[in-house]
Amino acid sequence: MPAQLIPEKSLQGIHILDNYNASHSPQRLDGRVAIITGGARGIGEATVRLFAKHGAIVVIADVEDAAGLLANSLYPAATFVHCNVSIEEDIKKLINSTVSQYGRLDILFNNAGVLGSQSKHKVSIIDFDADEFDHVMRVNVRGVTSLGMKHAAS
Ligand SMILES: NC(=O)c1ccc[n+]([C@@H]2O[C@H](COP(=O)([O-])OP(=O)(O)OC[C@H]3O[C@@H](n4cnc5c(N)ncnc54)[C@H](O)[C@@H]3O)[C@@H](O)[C@H]2O)c1
Repeated sequence: MPAQLIPEKSLQGIHILDNYNASHSPQRLDGRVAIITGGARGIGEATVRLFAKHGAIVVIADVEDAAGLLANSLYPAATFVHCNVSIEEDIKKLINSTVSQYGRLDILFNNAGVLGSQSKHKVSIIDFDADEFDHVMRVNVRGVTSLGMKHAAS
């Protein structure tokens, strides 16, 4: 989903939380190691910045290599790993490289997701696109539940 479609109140919520925590407990995640999938933009990027600000070490996992620039701007609090969450081998490498580099994994934010065109527009069932449906399910369901959770737990 393009960033401009994120409801204003969601982002405001993040800013409110950020301001609250900054004044009360600025390092709530000190030393925690977190993976944030889909961290290149939108909610994921906001979370990357917030976690880094609160002392976490963040691994940004995304198909968008531009996330490397975000990681560089926050380094050493953040690093980037190219990862397609719908590909099991990518997820395995992501988890293994994180644990071998930092020795632990405390938080996995399974944020990466896609919206198919059929959820953005009111279209007729006649226009149903089975390939697009499969892609949405591979990323949003397979990537999150079976792959991300499975390999983080193992
Ligand atoms: N914004 C909203 O109002 C809203 C509402 C409900 C749920 N969500 C969900 O929250 C999450 C974040 O939303 P957003 O608006 O920030 O989305 P966004 O489209 O702005 O960002 C999604 C990120 O996920 C990445 N991504 C997409 N497919 C990927 C894949 N296969 N592997 C790795 N990374 C991939 C994209 O490159 C992008 O950086 C999504 O899962 C979305 O479905 C968003």
